[in-house]
Amino acid sequence: MLNPILRARPLLASAIVLLLPFSSLHAADLQSGKAVFTSTCAVCHGPAGSPDPDNPVVQGLGVVPADLSDPLFNSREPTGDWEMVVKYGGHAMGLAVQMPPHSESLSDEQVADVTAYVKSLVDTSAYPPGEMNLFLPTRTKKAFPEDEVVYKGRYSDEPGENPLKSVLEIEKRIGKRGQGILELVHVNDALRSELTEVEVGYKHALSWSAEHILSGAVIYAIPVDSGDSDGELQTYLAYGTELSPAWVLQSSLRLKFPMDKASDGAAELAGSLHYVHSPWPRRVFPGLEVVGETPFRSRNGDLEWTALPQVRIGLTRGGHVALNLALELPLSDQSWDNRVWVTLLWDFADGGFFKGW
Ligand code: HEC
Repeated sequence: MLNPILRARPLLASAIVLLLPFSSLHAADLQSGKAVFTSTCAVCHGPAGSPDPDNPVVQGLGVVPADLSDPLFNSREPTGDWEMVVKYGGHAMGLAVQMPPHSESLSDEQVADVTAYVKSLVDTSAYPPGEMNLFLPTRTKKAFPEDEVVYKGRYSDEPGENPLKSVLEIEKRIGKRGQGILELVHVNDALRSELTEVEVGYKHALSWSAEHILSGAVIYAIPVDSGDSDGELQTYLAYGTELSPAWVLQSSLRLKFPMDKASDGAAELAGSLHYVHSPWPRRVFPGLEVVGETPFRSRNGDLEWTALPQVRIGLTRGGHVALNLALELPLSDQSWDNRVWVTLLWDFADGGFFKGW
C-alpha cells in the first residue's frame, strides 16, 4: 500500500502549480538590464527608449517602435506582457515582426532584467500600473481606466418576453488616472426594439499599488425612449487585486438613484474571481462572479442574488480583442430562469481591431 504522504504528493504538486504557474523568483538587476538594452535594443529603440525617426535603422524597419519612455505607454503595459514580447518577439503577441525574438540570445534572467530596465526608463508613479488592468468581468465594475470599446449582450429567458438588452460602451482614457464613459443601451423585447438610455460618466483611479487598484465613478443615465423617467444617477467604487500570480479578485459597490425619487434606488454588490493561469493572453480563462442587488427600502425577499460562471477567451495573439461568455443563474427568486451574457471587448490602445489575429 502507498504511503499517504506519497499518495498526496501529486495533489500537493498540482496545488502548487495551480497557485504559482508562472511566478518568477528572480530579482531584476537594472545594471545588467541597462547593459543588455544598450547592446541589443538601443539600435532600434534609441539609447533612452525613444526611437529616432531619422535614424536609417529605424527608417529601414518600416514601422517606428513606440516610445518606451512615454509614461502613459510605459505604465499601461504589464511587465509580463513585455517580457513575452522581448522573449518571443512582436509577432507572438500580435505586434510587428520587426520586433525580434530574443529567446535564443538572452537568458530568462536577462529578459527579466532588460524589461525591468525598460520599465524604469521613466517615472510612472502618477499612473496606475498595467498589471492592474485585470480581465473585464461580466457585471462587476472594473477599476482600471482604459481605452476600450465593449459590446455587452444579455439575453433573459422570461415568460413571453425574452428580452435582449445590448449595451455599447466606449471608454476613453483621460489624463493620468481618469476615464470618460459613454454607454448606449438598446432593448429588444416583445413590445419594442429601441435605444432606451444613453449613459455618460467619468471614472477616476483613487489609489493603487503593484497589487491593487481602487477607483470611483459617477454616471448619469439619460432615458431616450418614450418612458417618463427623469433618468438615474449611478455611482460606484471598484476594486481589483492580484491574490496570487494565478488568481485575481475584483469587486464593486454600485448605488443607483432615480432622479425623481432617490430613495427608490438600489444598491448592487458584485465580486468576481478569475483564474489567470497563463502568460499567453490568447487562452481560455475561467471565472466566477456573484452579484447581489437590493432596493434601498428593502422588504423581506427583495434581495436578488445571482451567480455567473464564465470564461474569457483571448481572441487575438496579444489578447486586446477578447470574448467573455457567461451564464447567469438566480440564487434567489427572480422573474427569469437564466440569462446568457456575451461580452466582446476591444482594447484600442493596443492596436486596431484586426491586428494580431
Ligand atoms: C530590429 C529592431 C528592434 C530591436 C533590436 C528591438 N526592438 Fe523592440 N520593438 C521594435 C519594433 C518595430 C516594435 C514595435 C512593434 C509594434 O508596435 O507592432 C518594438 C516594440 C517593443 C516593445 C513594445 C511592445 C508593445 O507593447 O507595444 C518593447 C517593450 C520592446 N520592443 C522592447 C525591446 C527590448 C527590451 C529589446 C532588446 C532586448 C528590443 N525591443 C529590441 C523593434 C526592435
